[in-house]
Amino acid sequence: MSEDIHSQKILILDFGSQYTQLIARRVREQKVYCEIHPYNIGLEKIKGFGAKGIILSGGPSSVYDKDAPAVDKGLFALGLPVLGICYGMQLMTHLLGGVVAKAQHREYGRAEIAIDDSTDLFKGLSGREVVWMSHGDRIERFPEGFKPISHTDNSPVAAMKDENRRFYGVQFHPEVVHTPKGKEIVGNFLFEICGCRPTWTMGSFIESQVKEIKERVGGQGVICGLSGGVDSAVTAVLIHKAIGDQLTCIFVDNGLLRAGEAKKVEEVFRKHFRINLIAVGASERFLDKLKGVEDPERKRKLIGNEFIHLFEEEALKLKEIGFLAQGTLYPDVIESVSFKGPSATIKSHHNVGGLLEKMSLKLVEPMRELFKDEVRALGRELGMPDEVIDRQPFPGPGLAIRVLGEVTKERIEILRNADVIILDEIKGAGLYTKMWQSFAVLLPVKTVGVMGDERTYENVIALRAVESLDGMTADWVRFPYDLLARISNRVINEVKGVNRVVYDISSKPPSTIEWE
Ligand code: XMP
Repeated sequence: MSEDIHSQKILILDFGSQYTQLIARRVREQKVYCEIHPYNIGLEKIKGFGAKGIILSGGPSSVYDKDAPAVDKGLFALGLPVLGICYGMQLMTHLLGGVVAKAQHREYGRAEIAIDDSTDLFKGLSGREVVWMSHGDRIERFPEGFKPISHTDNSPVAAMKDENRRFYGVQFHPEVVHTPKGKEIVGNFLFEICGCRPTWTMGSFIESQVKEIKERVGGQGVICGLSGGVDSAVTAVLIHKAIGDQLTCIFVDNGLLRAGEAKKVEEVFRKHFRINLIAVGASERFLDKLKGVEDPERKRKLIGNEFIHLFEEEALKLKEIGFLAQGTLYPDVIESVSFKGPSATIKSHHNVGGLLEKMSLKLVEPMRELFKDEVRALGRELGMPDEVIDRQPFPGPGLAIRVLGEVTKERIEILRNADVIILDEIKGAGLYTKMWQSFAVLLPVKTVGVMGDERTYENVIALRAVESLDGMTADWVRFPYDLLARISNRVINEVKGVNRVVYDISSKPPSTIEWE
């Protein structure tokens, strides 16, 4: 029996930094499990958590602010190693009797630190290192027992430690990519200072989840809605590994998917994984509902409701179902200061809350602990094909919100044909997995063109491609001109009904990624 994957864990207390999730990523990528909790969860919970070490995140406050977030000082009497990052370091200083002051020169962005002690936190680093600073305050006087281990030209303390109590503080952000040696620094805290062992692997996660799912579900049936997206797909395969035929997947083909996707779902789930799959072909029903509808919000609502309706219809036909499986991820459930949470457990597009009551179902959400990239790693470990795992996000309402204005069968077909070419070219250039999303939009205007000797009056396709970390902000992709040229040529030549291609060069905000 292998070691419990949760036995080696780190507690991250969140003080509102935009980077808190990145700290968690940095810890987990080194195979140590961690959780993020708000700074004010209370000492009892902190004790009960059973961490091998605690990380105090950064945050926008100053320790002298009236309502500055703080922790119970008792945290420093638990005998656990603590790493304070930025605000976390200042707070630790303040609570342990040191003095924090406003710096005369605020340090923001790229900075160089000189390493003065490379025995523990900075083991393996030496000389000068590039780091990412983002705070105005600095340490004026150390708490007792501390000494500096790094400085910059601007401030005598870029990092400090109290070796005896195993308390460490860094003024910069080791969790962001702009601190090239950040991974090593966090790794040193985990392994050198906290004495963690790297037990959090996808293999061990599967093993522990399979056991847990079996115990929880017993002999009952589980249903899972497949959207074609990564999260629901990996959820299904993981649950199938645990309970086999007790799982039934329901896939509603709304006719609004990209070319070949409905077929792919059947191929992967039914043929490859031999999962019980109910595929509901419902293109006509969705198109009927969408007839004459132009308003984006109305489109979304109609599609969402129809989905729930069909899903329920199918689910109610099944016997002895006790659970509904959902691909809920960690960012959806983190209770935190810096991000809105926990968001509703039921994802909005798949709002099957009514079904839970009607069939008195319980939820099974085996990926509640995972970040998106961990889901991908899990899917790979489960033997799922790259095309499913690397798939870019796709909105629930599908192509309906990319056919601007009224959705008809003909217009979806035009969009789909253009979309295939765009993806084909982007994949061919090796760029598909390097961006957040890339797709075609069919505009509700016609423009004049000329083909041979004839004047044409046809549709416009907009190309949208963005880079983003989480979909909350995004920037358009700087494609090479020759790729844009190829896409434009091919779309205009190969897609009947299109005589013009434009490229969307808007960032989010103020625009959004989708056009509707
Ligand atoms: P926007 O257009 O708001 O999109 O910048 C942000 C991200 O969310 C996706 N998106 C949706 N996903 N149901 C979904 O499941 C929806 O109704 C929906 N609307 C937008 C969008 O593709 C992008 O990745």
